[in-house]
Parts: sequence; structure tokens; C-alpha cells
Amino acid sequence: MKFNVNGTEHDIEVEPDMPLLWVVRDILGLTGTKYGCGIAMCGACTVHLDGLAVRSCQVRASEVEGAEITTIEGLGTPDDPHPVQAAWIEEQVAQCGYCQSGQIMQAASLLAGNPEPTDADIDAAMSGNLCRCASYPRIRAAIRRAQTETGT
Ligand code: FES
Ligand code: FES
Repeated sequence: MKFNVNGTEHDIEVEPDMPLLWVVRDILGLTGTKYGCGIAMCGACTVHLDGLAVRSCQVRASEVEGAEITTIEGLGTPDDPHPVQAAWIEEQVAQCGYCQSGQIMQAASLLAGNPEPTDADIDAAMSGNLCRCASYPRIRAAIRRAQTETGT
């Protein structure tokens, strides 16, 4: 089965119904994407599928052939961070960090589709991403900063 992950094509044997989360973490070793609940309730496993945020614990391998998959490792780099990643650092959002890659992927997808979100838009888009450290105020501040820094 062929997977396009972070711009690289991988041709690997996997069970068709294997969750995409397993593919990226266990087979490709991209452990920035986290396992939280496994039932679409926490957002820790969020990646992009053709630019849209999806819960990778709920997507089967057979559903993503031919799609562009982006994980946190492919969003930006330490030398060239995505504006959302840069804003996250500026706002020092992370506490324990476990939920953060999912939060960042969700926020990046939000801003790509809606460059000028209202507070209600942000709350709606981010409501499925849980943070047990309650970093929500800083998450919103970082989204606002990223929005400003991208000139939107
Ligand atoms: S692990 Fe996928 S939503 Fe929680
Ligand atoms: S930063 Fe700890 S769960 Fe969100």
C-alpha cells in the first residue's frame, strides 16, 4: 500500500483496516502524533489529510492511499517552523505537551481554511482537542498570534 507522508512516498505492507495512527507511529516511527483515546474524543492523534484535520485513530489505511498525509513532523522544522508552531513557541503554550501536536495540527487546518476566525470559530474548531493541562487560553492566544503573523 502506498502512503504519501510529509512529502515522501512509502510503499509498505499493512492491513487495510489498520488505523492511520498506527501506520504513522508504529510503522513509520513518526511519534509526534499521539494516541490518547482511540475513539475520536481527544484530538491527540490529529493529522492532515489533503490539508484537512482528521483523527488518525479513526481513519483506516485503505482510506488514505493517494492522499497527502501531513504529521506534525512535516508541518515545519525547528529552522523553518510553520507560523502556528512559531506562535506556539512565542506563547509558551505547552505544559506536559502530550496534546500539543494535535492542537497545532487542528489550529493550522483551521487557519488554512478560515484565515480570520472569530473566537466562536476558534472554539468550535478546537473543541474536540482536549488538554488535561488546560492550556486553552494560551492556545487561543497562539492562534491569534499566528493569524497576525501570517498577515491575515
Ligand atoms: S486518539 Fe484519536 S481522537 Fe483520541
Ligand atoms: S499540554 Fe498537557 S495535555 Fe495539553
